Amino acid sequence: MAADLPIGVFDSGVGGLTVAAALRRRLPSEELLYLGDIARLPYGTKSPGTVERYTLKAADFLIARGIKMLVVACNTASAHALTALMRAHPHLPVLGVIEAGAQAAARLSRSGTIAVAATEGTCRSDAFARAILTHRPEAKVSQIPCPLFVALAEEGLTDGPIAEDMVRHYLAAKFAPSNAPDCLVLGCTHFPLLTGALRRAIGDGPILVDCAEAVAEQAEQLLIAGGLAAPAGRAGGLSLIATDAPDRFARMATRLFPALGEVPAVELANL
Ligand code: DGL
Repeated sequence: MAADLPIGVFDSGVGGLTVAAALRRRLPSEELLYLGDIARLPYGTKSPGTVERYTLKAADFLIARGIKMLVVACNTASAHALTALMRAHPHLPVLGVIEAGAQAAARLSRSGTIAVAATEGTCRSDAFARAILTHRPEAKVSQIPCPLFVALAEEGLTDGPIAEDMVRHYLAAKFAPSNAPDCLVLGCTHFPLLTGALRRAIGDGPILVDCAEAVAEQAEQLLIAGGLAAPAGRAGGLSLIATDAPDRFARMATRLFPALGEVPAVELANL
């Protein structure tokens, strides 16, 4: 039965576990099969064609294992590969993170001045600006590449003076008092891990939009609409696969995501 199959979740590294954690909270009966392509990380500095190729390969791997839905828990892959993925797999429900985050920002910003912090690739694609303007045509959107946030998150350096300095380096000028955005979209699934440092560096004023909750809500609606929801009451689970260094991946997941509970042994995939 398709409903019994896991939901595939994919990111270049551990960042997409922010989305997996939101899916676990909202859909506890669902089985999640998570693939972190850390052999090829970072995606954010690579060209669109390369990101598309990596993403299609990762999707093929998860589909061969048997999944009923794919959540692309990576903004860079969502920006560059969502259309190709949907074309290649017309019968598989596929969700990206950009549309969910853009909708939330368009709804939550009061002033309509919205900043998006993302990888270089996501910023260059303009995908967030386009998606936000579809929902709120008068919005003023600025997209700020913050490539080193990914390395900080993967290193577990998510808090403390180094993380705060880095946040200031990229964002302080944009959030200087006059005409500052009232909303910052965390347009990379690694960035919610830096929330503490972000708050200390830019203050409590701006609304922080994390795409994870929004995409988990969309996943729930899609499962229900497609008759694909796992039987209520079933205890779901999380299986982790990494394309390199599975032990390191397990350590990072344990350290950064205590809410996921005991992290299962991580399988190594040769993609
Ligand atoms: N977590 C990914 C994203 O949301 C990108 C990190 C990377 O550069 O690989 O964009």
